[in-house]
Amino acid sequence: MIIAQISDTHIALDTADAEQRIGDFERTIADINALDPAPDLIVHTGDIVQSGRADEYAKAAAILAQAHRPVYVLAGNKDDRVNLRTAFAAKGYLDAYSGFIDYAIEDYPVRLIAVDTLNTHSNKGDFCAERAQRLIAMIDAEPSKPIAVFSHHPPFEVPVGPERINFKTAEMMERLCQAVQHSARVVAIISGHVHRSTTGWVGSIPATVMPSVATTLRWGEYPAHLKACPVYHIHRFDPASGFAVEARIVGVDWRAAFGEPPPALAPRAG
Ligand SMILES: [Fe+2]
Repeated sequence: MIIAQISDTHIALDTADAEQRIGDFERTIADINALDPAPDLIVHTGDIVQSGRADEYAKAAAILAQAHRPVYVLAGNKDDRVNLRTAFAAKGYLDAYSGFIDYAIEDYPVRLIAVDTLNTHSNKGDFCAERAQRLIAMIDAEPSKPIAVFSHHPPFEVPVGPERINFKTAEMMERLCQAVQHSARVVAIISGHVHRSTTGWVGSIPATVMPSVATTLRWGEYPAHLKACPVYHIHRFDPASGFAVEARIVGVDWRAAFGEPPPALAPRAG
């Protein structure tokens, strides 16, 4: 089972880098479409758009409509639950409930559980008792399959910052940590928000964060010729060993970087 994860596309229509953000998103979807073997599905771990506006979601949904595989989306701190739900309602996995955007996908060897860490008054995450109850109920709804939990805000300390704790309070983060550890069947926690690649642990559960697809908003050290190349994560699941994560770099533009096409591979000796 292969999951392509994208995150933090921050689609905007009126920022100075709006075209770059749109282009980064489009090129990433095109790259995922060209993967061989193809992923089973794509998960967008939130901050789909910059301002939660319906016209931003219309653009983002049009880009995601180009994907050849099913796409599931989470709400990030920049997202608006109502407009997000409206934009993606036709896909059928978001219920009509107007509150939290959390759900379980049962169609794959690994169950996918998306949690809602959105706080409408802060860029930092929230995880209240009601959301914890909903997560535990989703975990308990099926007794046998492994589970990957997706959250926009990472539920572990991120020393490479800009913030070590990405929830409003340490208690909120701890509540999510406790809930995901409700079952040993949770084998991975997959997040975004930090705009840079990092890893951590929640108890004994491995946790990963991918960079922002929007290259103008990405943190981390990249050589000059890769600064405009989006990076996304591919998560491959093996029943014996769990998930392995791989970073995929989209479309190095060799002419822009080096003024020449990529060198042909030399034939191997022998
Ligand atoms: Fe975020």
